[in-house]
Amino acid sequence: MNNRTETPSSRLEKPVAMFPKNHWYVAARSKEVGRELLARKILGKDLVLYRCESGEPVALSGLCPHRQFPLGKGTLFGDELECRYHGITFGPSGECLRIPTQESIPASCRLTNYPLVEKWEWLWIWVGEPELADSTAIPDMNDLRLGEEGWRAMDNGTFRFESRIQLSIDNLMDLSHVYALHFPAGLMRDIPPPKVHSELHNNRWTVTTETPVPADEFTKTLFPDCGDVVYSKFSSEFVSPGLVKAVISTHRMNADFTPGEELGTLIFPHALTPETATSTFLFMAETRNFSIHDTSIEPALLESNMRILHEDMEALELIESHTSAEIEYITSVRADAGALRVKKVIDEMIAAESAANAG
Ligand code: FES
Ligand SMILES: [Fe+2]
Repeated sequence: MNNRTETPSSRLEKPVAMFPKNHWYVAARSKEVGRELLARKILGKDLVLYRCESGEPVALSGLCPHRQFPLGKGTLFGDELECRYHGITFGPSGECLRIPTQESIPASCRLTNYPLVEKWEWLWIWVGEPELADSTAIPDMNDLRLGEEGWRAMDNGTFRFESRIQLSIDNLMDLSHVYALHFPAGLMRDIPPPKVHSELHNNRWTVTTETPVPADEFTKTLFPDCGDVVYSKFSSEFVSPGLVKAVISTHRMNADFTPGEELGTLIFPHALTPETATSTFLFMAETRNFSIHDTSIEPALLESNMRILHEDMEALELIESHTSAEIEYITSVRADAGALRVKKVIDEMIAAESAANAG
């Protein structure tokens, strides 16, 4: 008898990625890109990133046009990138500068140079139609409260999920999961049902989720006089296919179970970038409007964020591992309304790009 677990072939054959391409995505954090070559796959494309001697960041196609050697394994000489395999050399605009064995340079021997813009501590890339790249469309960092007065911003790092971007967007656009996944199991049996509301606000789908919750040790570390129960308000805004702004406001709770004075707000801009059809980079920042000069709370903040992030990562990777090409959502509930609307917006963007390419 064969005891091997059979994997349905449909689970092995996952699709070629379909993402809206004509948008800005974060390719890397500023500090990840320097004078060492960084190989990274973005929206299914192999890229290589580095900084010129002037500090200018560069993103080029990452496979040598000669024999497809990964250029992340090449060598930088000044601003020139030399392929390690046969020594063909490229400049930062992607032009071929030298072929060691001949004088002439075929037109096909060049790399693609992708628009790359540094904003806050992120490098935003455009891999869509080059003539449509408009850097004014990069999300506004002030709106995210990154680098704004009265707020203290932290760069929480780069993370890679073995799961498709859709799962991350679903996760962020329904923050009612926080009470189930990130609090002790069973909490939702004891708290009032969270109120969930989705609306189109300033042209962005926004979902708010709110309810009183017991103040745990972490909440008491941040807000020592918060009492035993606080009123928590979450909101998530779909800013672009590569960015979701998650906001967590903690309030005192009034005697009638309504929100009272705000104790503080944390904003978590989540920059999401597809790597492949089934893997995603997350560049996560965090900014707060309380205790902005008190860095002693930051280790606790970071520890809490990493725990939450890994709980999300484990959940999404588990779903991905049991999912085939199309995710089958057999049941949706009211709390999914915002996430479903965002999915529709993204599907329409993909369809519009496909139609434009076909036309
Ligand atoms: S593969 Fe790069 S020079 Fe040959
Ligand atoms: Fe989560």
